[in-house]
Amino acid sequence: MNDEMLGRIDSYIEGLFVGEDAALSAALDDAKNAGLPEIQISPNQGKFLRLLAEISGARRILEIGTLGGYSGIHFARALPDDGVLISLELDEKHAEVARKNFERAGLSEKVEVRVGDAKETLRSMAENGGEEPFDLVFIDAEKEGYPMYLDLSLELSRPGTLVIADNVVRGGSVLEEGDNMGAFNEKFASDGRLDGIIIPLIREYVDGVAIARVK
Ligand code: SAH
Ligand code: DHB
Ligand code: MG
Repeated sequence: MNDEMLGRIDSYIEGLFVGEDAALSAALDDAKNAGLPEIQISPNQGKFLRLLAEISGARRILEIGTLGGYSGIHFARALPDDGVLISLELDEKHAEVARKNFERAGLSEKVEVRVGDAKETLRSMAENGGEEPFDLVFIDAEKEGYPMYLDLSLELSRPGTLVIADNVVRGGSVLEEGDNMGAFNEKFASDGRLDGIIIPLIREYVDGVAIARVK
């Protein structure tokens, strides 16, 4: 199947299940105007992740890699009134754009963006011990960090926590020997603390999310 057909199928699904959304469109416009990279999740993926968060009944969600808050808006919308999204971001400028986007979406009371290298932030969250375990973790920052993000996230999890990692297929580059995401997938699949699977997702190319339940 060619890439054009993949894009058409993705648009077909979007046309059926994803409506116009002023807050999300404005969030994308602002991120673009501020010069942020356009590497957020796709609309269909956002719908899928929001449903997963709702089905799992998540009340505390941890996101690693905020960007302009596009995926975060989906997660925050899935939360109950007393729920919280903590989203970790290295770049202060990205965090500022995201905070404005959460505000406009009417979600800022449920969302906290923490700025810094997420490895440091996670380490101190785990060491301080004051953090209740998260119900859902979404890993989507720089790809080299994924193995570390997974280990640190598991320290902030409980049995039943849903762990999701983005971009684990990347157009099939994971099939090449020595690919860093391929190495992450092997770790994710063989980690005795997890029971998971990869769900391929299409956009203009095939990507996917790794999903696991913490045992
Ligand atoms: N989840 C977002 C996309 C995230 S893009 C969405 O779908 O809408 C990846 C983000 O991770 C970028 O904003 C980048 O600045 C951030 N990032 C990169 N390295 C990081 C690090 N070490 N710690 C925290 N965030 C990091
Ligand atoms: C890139 C990063 C992402 O998180 C993503 O979903 C797509 C692309 C990237 O770095 O190119
Ligand atoms: Mg991603």
